[in-house]
Amino acid sequence: MSEKISKIGVLTSGGDAPGMNAAIRAVVRSCSYHGIECSGIFRGYEGLIDGDFEALNARSVKNIINRGGTFLKSARSAAFRTTEGRQRAYDNLKAQNIDALVVIGGDGTFTGAAVFNDEHNFPVVGIPGTIDNDITGTDYTIGYDTALNTVVEAIDKIRDTANSHNRLFLVEVMGRDAGDIALNAGIGAGAEEILIPEEEMGRDRLVDSLKRSKKSGKTSSIIVVAEGDKIGKNIFELAEYIEENLEGYEVKVTVLGHIQRGGSPSCYDRVLASRLGVGAIDALRDGKRNIMVGIEHSKIVFVPFKDAIKGTNQINKELIRVADITSV
Ligand code: F6P
Repeated sequence: MSEKISKIGVLTSGGDAPGMNAAIRAVVRSCSYHGIECSGIFRGYEGLIDGDFEALNARSVKNIINRGGTFLKSARSAAFRTTEGRQRAYDNLKAQNIDALVVIGGDGTFTGAAVFNDEHNFPVVGIPGTIDNDITGTDYTIGYDTALNTVVEAIDKIRDTANSHNRLFLVEVMGRDAGDIALNAGIGAGAEEILIPEEEMGRDRLVDSLKRSKKSGKTSSIIVVAEGDKIGKNIFELAEYIEENLEGYEVKVTVLGHIQRGGSPSCYDRVLASRLGVGAIDALRDGKRNIMVGIEHSKIVFVPFKDAIKGTNQINKELIRVADITSV
């Protein structure tokens, strides 16, 4: 039988993602529902180390389900990577009588949580919040759906101008190591080619394919490039290469950047965040520790941190085929 949880701390860490506020709200209200005290920790692990805590109740999280970003703020903490930093974090949690921690973030956040748990045997539960969708053990991460919609909306607008001028656009989207945003938004926006870190296309094959499309009657093109794709040194160099090797197109580059991280969360992200927030408190009450709450085939699942951060998230080959077929 596990120890009773009377008070928890909640924080958001790493890159922010739309829907993080909805997840905090669900955690806080779930605590309120079950008679558990809840403390908000500002600036992720930085605030944990600095003792930046504030008591939260059900009313503290009113009117935030629709807001992008995270009202608890976020950070990528260098100090939490040190044993001294983690010791200070532990001392602060003990001084506040906090029994368990809920961390909302991605890969780096869970890696820190797992090390912290190993060192101090302190109960931690994670909620996947990142636009990258690069966490193993959950079909979706909070913020991914909203980011996809932001990208598709932006590319729809680029398509109008690309088509009016017979231009080829390279559109860079986020995803250092994962091509999920590029692949899904690329299919949704009808991109001609999609370049992702998981598949090496090669510049010559890309140019050959563009030549074939031009011959088949295409007068403008959109290529979606994931930030982490290795095809060229960078997207601007790739644009120059294409312009030199493909006649008849002016090539333009748009880097969507941090616009993808902002905005009001989609309904899907709000519901996902609410379910995962409730699931995190259920997990702690149930004695689960050192796990991430995820969603697989629409069901809540609990995945050990070590499996969630394994980096084995595979790209869906069927989607690659769909992209190939629908862009002929
Ligand atoms: O992990 C989320 C993410 O948005 C990545 O897609 C991107 O590579 C990175 O964060 C950017 O981080 P920062 O906002 O710290 O520059």
